[in-house]
Amino acid sequence: MLSHHGRFWFLVQFGIRCAVCVISPKCPFGYDSQTFKIGPFSCIICQALLFECNRCVPCTHVFCKACISRFSDCPLCGADIEKIEADTNLQSVVDRFIDGHARIKRSPVDTDEKEVIGEKKTVIYEDVSLERGAFLVQQAMRAFRANNVESAKSRLSLCAQDIREQLEIAGNTSELCSQLGAVLGMLGDCCRAMGDGTSAVGYFDESVTFLSKVETDDLEVTHTLSVSLNKIGDLKYYEGDLKAARDHYFRALDVRRNAIKDSSKAPSQVLDVAVSLAKVADVDRNLDAEDSATQGFQEAINLLESLKINSEENALEQRRVSVLEFLNGQLSKKQSD
Ligand SMILES: *[C@@H]1O[C@H](CO)[C@@H](O)[C@H](O)[C@H]1NC(C)=O
Ligand SMILES: [Zn+2]
Ligand SMILES: [Zn+2]
Repeated sequence: MLSHHGRFWFLVQFGIRCAVCVISPKCPFGYDSQTFKIGPFSCIICQALLFECNRCVPCTHVFCKACISRFSDCPLCGADIEKIEADTNLQSVVDRFIDGHARIKRSPVDTDEKEVIGEKKTVIYEDVSLERGAFLVQQAMRAFRANNVESAKSRLSLCAQDIREQLEIAGNTSELCSQLGAVLGMLGDCCRAMGDGTSAVGYFDESVTFLSKVETDDLEVTHTLSVSLNKIGDLKYYEGDLKAARDHYFRALDVRRNAIKDSSKAPSQVLDVAVSLAKVADVDRNLDAEDSATQGFQEAINLLESLKINSEENALEQRRVSVLEFLNGQLSKKQSD
């Protein structure tokens, strides 16, 4: 089960290792959060487990198909690549490894030892320090960063499927919904990167559905929810559907505004609201609703001018200043026309 919420979440949000949880690496293959050994099942190019594994001829080195396709010389030994050949045997071993690894802590109801054995869900690698969801997300992020989007999508689909199975058992708990929402959002990113806007919108939509079920006092959930809404808005915007774009930007703005209602608001959340106001105002301007646009830009400016940022938070202050500059530019642009 994806019970180690904080750590999983950390991976999802930032794509980096959890700095808080220190568990010594015990996975026999080194696939864990602390150290990552480039083992026999991984691709040195994307640093993730092999996907559609291909062997170079004549040097026999193996990589993911999408990764090696970008090279004419082998990145490991420098030999000319005459051709590449699928290695289905090795790939099936890798897939079995993923499946075996993935079986660990699969479901909250599997804690009954006898039942686990009865279902032949025996734990293969006892000391793996990443749980299934975090493991798959980690693999997906590595692949995504290396532009092997198909591989990322495949791992994330497996992850989403697994969370859905758990939802069937445990119901729509906040934890499962926030995890599924995040993973669906990443699936949307994959589709967008592949140029499939329609599927991307589908995933972002579903991401919104699940994130909306979660209590909104969680800063990360709120942020992910509003980002998914903005991404739908962006896709609609580029399609030329400005009304749909505005609708989604406005929903994102609404989520962000609600999040800063209580007194414990963080400066980054106020910045988020200002950015959302700017997005809505920008569409309004394109829809010829100039009054509404001006009002939006002005509201965002007021927010940022009254925002006090701790002098230690340099990056945030820089962002505040640059957003403010942009907003002032937008405001004066129309007025001087
Ligand atoms: C969980 O949420 C999904 C999506 O809204 C819904 O289709 C499903 O029926 C819900 N399941 C339960 C058990 O409430
Ligand atoms: Zn690769
Ligand atoms: Zn080689």
